[in-house]
Amino acid sequence: MNVADSRTVETVLLDAGFHLTESLGEADVILVNTCAVRESAEERALGQLASLSRLKTETPTKIIGVLGCIPQEMKDELVRRLPFLDLVVGPDEYRQLPYLIEERLAAAPGQPAHVAARLNRHELYDDIVPHHTGGITAFVTITRGCDKFCSFCVVPYVRGRERSRPLTSIIAEVEQLVAKGAREVMLLGQNVDAYRWEGQSFADCLEAVAAVEGLQRVRFLTSHPQDIHLRIFEVMRENRKVCPYLHLPVQSGCDRILEQMNRGYTRERYLEIIESAREIAPDLALSTDIIVGFPSETEREFEETLDLARCVRFDSAFMFKYSERPHTKAAGMTDDVSETEKIRRLETLIALQKQISQKQNLAQIGRVDEVLIEGVSPKNALQWFGRTPDFRPVVFSQNGEVPGQVVRVKLGELSGFTFLGHLA
Ligand code: 5AD
Ligand code: SF4
Repeated sequence: MNVADSRTVETVLLDAGFHLTESLGEADVILVNTCAVRESAEERALGQLASLSRLKTETPTKIIGVLGCIPQEMKDELVRRLPFLDLVVGPDEYRQLPYLIEERLAAAPGQPAHVAARLNRHELYDDIVPHHTGGITAFVTITRGCDKFCSFCVVPYVRGRERSRPLTSIIAEVEQLVAKGAREVMLLGQNVDAYRWEGQSFADCLEAVAAVEGLQRVRFLTSHPQDIHLRIFEVMRENRKVCPYLHLPVQSGCDRILEQMNRGYTRERYLEIIESAREIAPDLALSTDIIVGFPSETEREFEETLDLARCVRFDSAFMFKYSERPHTKAAGMTDDVSETEKIRRLETLIALQKQISQKQNLAQIGRVDEVLIEGVSPKNALQWFGRTPDFRPVVFSQNGEVPGQVVRVKLGELSGFTFLGHLA
């Protein structure tokens, strides 16, 4: 989501006459887009910002700004902790960036930061096509914000209310991306299943995007068990362009914790969704997000999460230890699982999931499937890198193909999680 937002910011600035540079030294303006979803992401961003203070001391006219969710979450603290900042701009204020920068360029150095961090429930950046430099895959935001208020999550507070983009503008954006060379789009939203526009649902959106000529593949991220509709799996089964891959965060395998998290489903309901989805779309690959060490989680409750991971056999999982986030309901609960215990649970879960992912991958060896070539392999200039429809990374020897082409490849041995393939 943040990568997609950064592309939107690039368009806003390019349209205003700015140019991009890869070099921090050469840049007149440095903008750092930040994430506040977990403490670790926040610390990393704050560390990176702090390291820019040297550049500011050397060249006081350089404008340094921080964008995204951290400005929204803690504007005043940010200005206090990093007094050299020029701009502090939240996720609904990017249209203003050219004016804010111009204003700052004209001002004498040393002024306190300009803070623009109001949420705007109407801001969809609908008319701004994110800057695309010709890659095979592109992100397309279809919803912004979130209304779910999971008790651990800061997103509703920093990204504001859930809103959907008009389907007409989504399609127009996809058409433009295809014209610029994209062959795959990833439809993005905190909860894509909540998509609603003039009576059209997310399944309708998927179908409409898949119908864009020249597009080879459609993916989407993230789904929510409360809003997911089984029709999307029918669309997947009937339409080869819609990739059989689902990222469905479960967060915990224990009903009591799910309730404390305000997730709105039970373990049984989650398992039912997976079962029905696999029945309708048997090729479906599954990934999830899991949090361990949520306040009051007992060892037995954590084991229910391990058990769920074993039952579902996710192809991959993003696993986190709970960290308290400001404004959230869980911040009012006692964070009583010790750090050592959180780390132990996280390591246990990661080790289990690693085994499961490896087994799931080993079962694919020998399979022949379509691979969309995304580009040259980062590790070997004579190989292509691409992915199967179910998102497995594959490298294979080049033989006159071009990026964007779909080829049939037999999956061979694994190096880590990447398959070495052979043209079939
Ligand atoms: N602590 C740990 N993990 C969190 N996530 C969101 N908020 C927190 C938090 N406070 C995780 C969830 C979510 C993913 C994007 O980040 O698993 O699905
Ligand atoms: Fe956060 Fe829950 Fe919304 Fe996901 S669904 S963004 S975890 S509040």
